[in-house]
Amino acid sequence: MVVVWSIKMSNFWCLFWARKKTMGWKGILGFEYGIVQAPLGPDISSPHLVAAVANSGALGFLRVPDWEDPDYVRELIRKTRTLTNKPFGIGVILAFPHKENVKAILDEKVAVLQLYWGECSKELVLEAHKAGVKVVPQIGSYEEAKRAADAGVDAIIVQGREAGGHVIGQDGLITLLPRVVDLVRGRDLVVIAAGGIVDERGYVAALALGAQGVSLGTRFLATEESYAHPTYKRKLIEFDQTEYTDIFGRARWPGAPHRVLATPFFMEWKELPNHENESNQPVIGRTIIHGREREVRRFAGTVPNATTTGDIESMAMYAGQSIGLIKEILPAGEVINRIVEGAQRLIDQQFAPAH
Ligand SMILES: Cc1cc2nc3c(=O)[nH]c(=O)nc-3n(C[C@H](O)[C@H](O)[C@H](O)COP(=O)(O)O)c2cc1C
Repeated sequence: MVVVWSIKMSNFWCLFWARKKTMGWKGILGFEYGIVQAPLGPDISSPHLVAAVANSGALGFLRVPDWEDPDYVRELIRKTRTLTNKPFGIGVILAFPHKENVKAILDEKVAVLQLYWGECSKELVLEAHKAGVKVVPQIGSYEEAKRAADAGVDAIIVQGREAGGHVIGQDGLITLLPRVVDLVRGRDLVVIAAGGIVDERGYVAALALGAQGVSLGTRFLATEESYAHPTYKRKLIEFDQTEYTDIFGRARWPGAPHRVLATPFFMEWKELPNHENESNQPVIGRTIIHGREREVRRFAGTVPNATTTGDIESMAMYAGQSIGLIKEILPAGEVINRIVEGAQRLIDQQFAPAH
């Protein structure tokens, strides 16, 4: 029994090793590497972060405002283009007004349009393809993946419940990802894994489950170029626990659970009664989001960015379950290099067949 199992495993790694040049290593969607920096709202995936990621050969996503502002979207894209001549992407939350913003994205011919929290229609995919823009929705269930594949998208980001920020599904990545891989087998469609991946071990595990790429949110949040507030970045290093909750941003974005750092503020308020939300809470700070100044109320769903002032420690701090593996704030390019080189080493040293 043990012998059969070990033969099977060694066959698997032989195959894996032989195919490594055609798996994540050859890159995805025309990018050099199969590494994706997730869109990080509000404003966290700034032009500086996205350009740093693009300049390192990976796919970085800007994030549009939660309201229609096509001029601002154009400005964001053009500012990023002053910092890199490499392609990049931009993310849109379909639950918020977005038609004009999407039009601006297609006019600007950004390389990749990422979609989340809403139905990605065949019409939108056709329109994007006509403009030469690839479409990549992030999904959280098998059914959602099926609908996206049938709509003709170019890639699917499979988000597991381990993920930081808003979490659309209930399944863990290790169970959902291979199901989606099986679902799209034989189609010209890239599968990207998201949720709890911060280093080369997570990358190699995702490749073994059948993904061609990985999308990282929290790891890029904790970089020098991210637009997160310095206190938020510090907390990402200090804390090692997260919780899945719905206490932040209930009024602005109802029915949208999220994963946050288990800060003292969160632990004190995590049992917030269902009828409470941010709309009638005291103002605890001020912030500028996508060029607009606004108040931050207690339990607001917006994480502190570099412009935020006030009681930062009492604000939402999104983070994924692997936060305990992040020990330092790094340049984004260094994150990418470490993952790519580390994964190569890991496969060569631990999984390559003995010669
Ligand atoms: C601060 C933060 C903001 C996020 N904002 C968005 C967003 O605007 N759009 C989106 O599709 N996903 C967003 N996400 C989720 C990511 O796309 C991704 O699923 C998640 O970060 C993966 O898990 P990880 O954080 O463990 O890497 C956000 C995540 C974080 C941590």
